[in-house]
Amino acid sequence: MTDSFMRFDKVTKDYGSVRVVEDLDLTIARGEFVSLLGPSGSGKTTLLMMLAGFESVTAGAITLDGQRLNDVPTYKRDMGVVFQNYALFPHMTIARNVAFPLEMRGTPKSEIATRVKRALDMVQLGHLSDRMPGQLSGGQQQRVALARSLVFEPRVVLMDEPLGALDKQLREQMQLDIRELHHRLGLTIIFVTHDQDEALTMSDRIAVFNKGQIQQCASPRQVYDHPANRFVAEFIGETNLLAGKVSGVDGGRVALTLPDGSVLQADGAPGFSVGDDALLSLRPERIDLHGPADALTGLNTLRGDVADTIYQGDHLRIVIVTAAGRIIARVPRKAAEWPNGSQVVLSFRPTDGWVIAP
Ligand SMILES: Nc1ncnc2c1ncn2[C@@H]1O[C@H](COP(=O)(O)OP(=O)(O)OP(=O)(O)O)[C@@H](O)[C@H]1O
Ligand SMILES: [Mg+2]
Repeated sequence: MTDSFMRFDKVTKDYGSVRVVEDLDLTIARGEFVSLLGPSGSGKTTLLMMLAGFESVTAGAITLDGQRLNDVPTYKRDMGVVFQNYALFPHMTIARNVAFPLEMRGTPKSEIATRVKRALDMVQLGHLSDRMPGQLSGGQQQRVALARSLVFEPRVVLMDEPLGALDKQLREQMQLDIRELHHRLGLTIIFVTHDQDEALTMSDRIAVFNKGQIQQCASPRQVYDHPANRFVAEFIGETNLLAGKVSGVDGGRVALTLPDGSVLQADGAPGFSVGDDALLSLRPERIDLHGPADALTGLNTLRGDVADTIYQGDHLRIVIVTAAGRIIARVPRKAAEWPNGSQVVLSFRPTDGWVIAP
């Protein structure tokens, strides 16, 4: 049995007549790192606000460690919160900022200094404790906000796009830092982002949101390799979608016949029957390219013509026109290059494709 430390049961949120979260079920284990990933307006922040107690729940229940949270006031929920622009108090030193949640909780003075130092050391900012927030870079301020959210050892830490304002390099550094803190402290973290790379990097599980509903909640590997539906396939990473009809089902293996009559084999979600319309999701990096004369057995193949090659530094994106439509392949920089107009054969292994319902 899974440890259901945190549960959302049929949680719904309406703003007036507009439903922004609908009948949402989600269970999170103690110590888990779960990202909420989805397009703008899909309800991620709203869910976090209900969890923190800043917004009421219209229907359904949120439970934490067996306790129903719906009517528990925010300050009693014992959650650390970091928001994208959750400003530090500008007139207080870094140390005072971090001490604040402890002072609010009536922690003895003698203990406060030790814990503030430990929290700041944890984010490698112990040496800046006497500075004012205005004297820190954006990334340093964000790390102070992180220290402030952790200093009172909350049961749960909620982060809403905490790295959104940082440049790429610092964001990637902070992703690794937060991941490391999560492992070291065994924190339960709910992390909102609309950056899929960030979600893939950091999470134990990713809950993919669309229009107030979770489309899929699974490990990064699972949502990327075996997306539950078209929305997830297109939202996470890049993919080619080839439409066809199911012409055979054997265990988890599906045969898909394309409009031009060619047949491709790939793994697929359960539940397909012969005759169903279906889509093959094929990631660009799972495609290999060959010359038209190469012998290829035991692989799925498609013929096409190279329409364009885009140089991307560490790899090439190759646009190929096939009878099944335009397909993008992503090949290593060292692979053979094909002039525009050349005929190529695309191949992929059945385990590298994934068949989903249209
Ligand atoms: N206080 C409010 N009153 C009315 N509607 C609101 C309120 N807060 C949010 N909404 C609406 O609820 C929907 C979900 O908003 P939410 O902030 O949860 O989205 P999000 O997934 O966090 O998006 P983003 O990635 O842009 O932050 C949006 O359509 C938004 O306009
Ligand atoms: Mg938001």
